Amino acid sequence: MAGKYLVFTCLFLAFLLSFTWYHLKDRDWGRYTAFPCQTENTGSNSIISHERLKDSPLHRMLYEKPDLLKLPRTDVMIATPWQAPIVWDGTYNLDILNELFHLRGARIGLSVFVIRKYKVFINDFLQSAEEFFMAGHKVHYYVFTDDVSGIPNITLKEGRNMEVVKISGYKRWQDITMRRMQLIRDYISQKLINEVDYLVCLDADLKFMDHIGVEILGDVFGVIHPGFFGESRTAFTHERRNYSAGYIPEDEGDFYYTGCFFGGTVEEVYKLTNFCHNAMMEDKAKNIEALWHDESYLNKYFLYHKPTKLLSPEYAWNDYYGSPVVVKRKRLVHVPKDYNAVRD
Ligand SMILES: *[C@@H]1O[C@H](CO)[C@@H](O)[C@H](O)[C@H]1NC(C)=O
Ligand SMILES: *[C@@H]1O[C@H](CO)[C@@H](O)[C@H](O)[C@H]1NC(C)=O
Repeated sequence: MAGKYLVFTCLFLAFLLSFTWYHLKDRDWGRYTAFPCQTENTGSNSIISHERLKDSPLHRMLYEKPDLLKLPRTDVMIATPWQAPIVWDGTYNLDILNELFHLRGARIGLSVFVIRKYKVFINDFLQSAEEFFMAGHKVHYYVFTDDVSGIPNITLKEGRNMEVVKISGYKRWQDITMRRMQLIRDYISQKLINEVDYLVCLDADLKFMDHIGVEILGDVFGVIHPGFFGESRTAFTHERRNYSAGYIPEDEGDFYYTGCFFGGTVEEVYKLTNFCHNAMMEDKAKNIEALWHDESYLNKYFLYHKPTKLLSPEYAWNDYYGSPVVVKRKRLVHVPKDYNAVRD
């Protein structure tokens, strides 16, 4: 009786083995040993092919181990009390960050306003951005201008393109700078929301002098103004009139942020620009204007909606402030300008 069962079991096992062998012998086992991130390129966001990953330095995730007991910098604050990183040279590993943003296929927009005499800056701005801004990533420039013919035809690198948007000019430079918030907000909802994941907003009178890449990206980021990073709250040039929508009392505030450079995800930049535009309109109805225009409203926004990442003054340097030792790189620098020539 038991022998009969044994024969039966043996026959069954033999069948199972041959069945499995027959079906698996021609399998391409290479498919199962490849890097696990190998995915089909279906969505528009997945631009990473397996070949790229294989060539990537992070294919095996080789880099120096982070050391919990070693500070990357001991001379500067590298995270705010609300736990947002402050980006300084030496505080990040660009290989890791590049890989993470490539895997996401991040699309990065850059908006810049070139109104009237600010045309003199745009060629250097764009040429230097091609060299230093988001190298190797997908970049879409949005150049807002009142004079389309004044925008130079520069040859862009692969994966980068430019759109020139015609807008009407304003008489006063203050109006130009204030209207930017509204224009960015409206263009985000009309178009940018479908074209880019992140939006970086910059002034035109700047020149890239060193690398600025994905280490700056986060939900919403601001740049610490180079003129105030060692200063007390009372020295900050916030709007101090309590009837202005930009009002910040002298016992509040974290840092003084520059108005020339901010950004984040398109959704967050929408909220920021919407706030600043509405605050400006509120003041306009009272016939007042905040001390430093859009910069004042931006500082008010960042007081109550803390940035999730802060960029050190390396990212908006001005040679007027010399060369402090903590500033190891001057990545983006104000082009000295003759105010009378550009602000007519
Ligand atoms: C740029 O190129 C377009 C066509 O290729 C031309 O119409 C335009 O005038 C050029 N602009 C400048 C500033 O050279
Ligand atoms: C605003 O400031 C003025 C003068 O500095 C003061 O008299 C007034 O009480 C303040 N108003 C509010 C609502 O704090």
